[in-house]
Amino acid sequence: MSKIYENLENMLSGLRERIPFTPQIGLVLGSGLGGFAEKLKVAAEIPYQDIPGFPVSTVSGHAGKFVFGTLQGKDILCMQGRVHFYEGYSMQQVVTPVRLMAMMGIKTLILTNAAGGVNSSFEPGNLMCIRDHISCFVPSPLIGRNVLELGTRFPDMSCVYDPELCGALHRAAALRGLSLKDGIYIQLSGPGYETPAEIRMCASLGADAVGMSTAVEAMAARHAGLRVCGVSLITNMASGISKTPLSHTEVQETANRASRDFEGLMEEFLGLL
Ligand code: HPA
Repeated sequence: MSKIYENLENMLSGLRERIPFTPQIGLVLGSGLGGFAEKLKVAAEIPYQDIPGFPVSTVSGHAGKFVFGTLQGKDILCMQGRVHFYEGYSMQQVVTPVRLMAMMGIKTLILTNAAGGVNSSFEPGNLMCIRDHISCFVPSPLIGRNVLELGTRFPDMSCVYDPELCGALHRAAALRGLSLKDGIYIQLSGPGYETPAEIRMCASLGADAVGMSTAVEAMAARHAGLRVCGVSLITNMASGISKTPLSHTEVQETANRASRDFEGLMEEFLGLL
């Protein structure tokens, strides 16, 4: 058995008695969006640091725990906080939580993040349904000996973000009277924000939003056969488009301001699944 799979099995067996139910849906809450977990009727919480070998976030705004709870009749496993490549973790470590959630039984994964707006028609506070991604500026999380128990060597990536789930996201937005953009998310490594030249490159490649997470998690999830969708909260216009210097404080402030829209969208969406 591969070391990666052995580690995952060890994590899972260490957690068994703390897992209250088999979750149907996994939800990764990005920067400033962790408050959504408070809407759940919580059945159990497991701080990441209680899981030996599990990567723990070092970024402010990321709480760092699994929350098992129900909402809209669905059994949900929320991740309040994730880890990033820029924290020094390998991409294999970055996707460990997604793989563990798949082993805990989720069939659908909802990824969320705070992102910079590359599409100049976007505004801070906009929500974007991720239709596709560009991940090739960061290492693939699937590099290394393939773990057959997790998925196939050469997984198809022609339809990472499930069109039906995207349709449901748009229905949910309409029901709540919210505007929901569509776009392509590009993952870069961070932690520095991009230069204006890099953002022009992203735009010329067809990206609409830029961030430092999500695409590799989506790849690992597709490798594991999960249905995937993603929502970006545009917290700022990207470098060179924004008139002001970028800061994590601005990202968090916009996320706080727009979190009600985000939470409304998510709650309605979960009801449609
Ligand atoms: N760039 C990269 N990541 C981000 C940004 C950005 O402008 N905003 C929020 N996350």
